[in-house]
Amino acid sequence: MLIGQGLLKQLGVRVRRHLARKTCAIISDSNIALFFADRVTKSLASGGFQSALITIPAGEKSKTLEQAGAICDQMIAAGLDRQSFVIGLGGGVIGDISGFVAAIYHRGIPHVQIPTTLLAMVDSSIGGKTGVNTRDGKNLLGAIHHPLLVIDDVDVLRTLPRREFNQGFAEIIKHAVIADAKMFQTLQSWKAGEALALQKLIKRNIQIKSKIVAKDERDQSGERAVLNFGHTVGHAIERAGGYRKFLHGEALSLGIIAACDISTKRVGLPPDQRDAIVDLLRRFQLPTSLPRNFPRKKIFDAVKFDKKFEGGKVRFIVTPRIGTARVSGDVTMKDVREAIEAL
Ligand SMILES: NC(=O)c1ccc[n+]([C@@H]2O[C@H](COP(=O)([O-])OP(=O)(O)OC[C@H]3O[C@@H](n4cnc5c(N)ncnc54)[C@H](O)[C@@H]3O)[C@@H](O)[C@H]2O)c1
Ligand SMILES: [Zn+2]
Repeated sequence: MLIGQGLLKQLGVRVRRHLARKTCAIISDSNIALFFADRVTKSLASGGFQSALITIPAGEKSKTLEQAGAICDQMIAAGLDRQSFVIGLGGGVIGDISGFVAAIYHRGIPHVQIPTTLLAMVDSSIGGKTGVNTRDGKNLLGAIHHPLLVIDDVDVLRTLPRREFNQGFAEIIKHAVIADAKMFQTLQSWKAGEALALQKLIKRNIQIKSKIVAKDERDQSGERAVLNFGHTVGHAIERAGGYRKFLHGEALSLGIIAACDISTKRVGLPPDQRDAIVDLLRRFQLPTSLPRNFPRKKIFDAVKFDKKFEGGKVRFIVTPRIGTARVSGDVTMKDVREAIEAL
């Protein structure tokens, strides 16, 4: 894991220290390739690598099995083999699909990730989950395939649209609430534009997620579940908005507020802490209330679609105080409905 500035230019030499291979595919999307593909290709050449650039249309719609297959076909046509490797240059969409391709190509070749969104740096590039969507749902197909190397060059974030940048903070605030009260305070006095502070923040978020994932890599013992804080209602809002109205981090912001309201009711999260969380989300220009005419029922229906309510209760992540989180089995459908209605 490398975090810094100007790292894209040093990519070739940096990767050379980890890989004695010669050929690779650079998988990227149509937006990102325009900004960075040249720099990446040149730097790889200077490290003695031969690369084939493969770009796919930007956006979640590209995260499909068909697209993964088409990428594999292009890799075969470019003569890449078992001795090659994959570089994923992009946000979470590219990280997920390029990782998936690396997991299945010749039964698995190394994956190097160069995240280009804040969300990808603090969340999707950590934990080894890769995959694609199907007609029926997100991330239904996939594999665990940890990247060999992740290179976070904060300079690439300069071209990221503001809304995309801010949505990364929803996951960062989530990490603070579930695991790090001190980071929560740091965020309360956050000043934009300080590159070193941003690097430190990214590093801390990687540590938090890695530590949680390490305890429960395959998402089985339940420890990884705390990372889903805010996501039950967040995902439902994304779905209810047809995946167009809200970005993931924006829907998560609202989901965090719903989870806080439920936490206040069920496990005694102090109301002033709940308010501090809402203020912090607002500080990063994340939504803190739903548009008045947004159909709440659609959200609730989506929660029911997503979650199994057993005997009227659901497993739900709650926070008793900022810096901690756990699973609760006591949250009821009524709690969830009321929290959604209050948004
Ligand atoms: N594997 C995991 O553990 C995990 C975790 C969280 C999210 N995800 C996945 O991540 C995806 C969302 O990732 P995302 O939010 O990064 O979306 P994204 O990859 O679609 O990127 C968002 C947009 O920003 C553009 N962009 C990216 N970097 C840019 C840059 N530096 N400059 C200018 N434009 C840039 C992209 O072209 C795209 O249009 C979802 O598919 C989600 O399922 C995976
Ligand atoms: Zn998320």
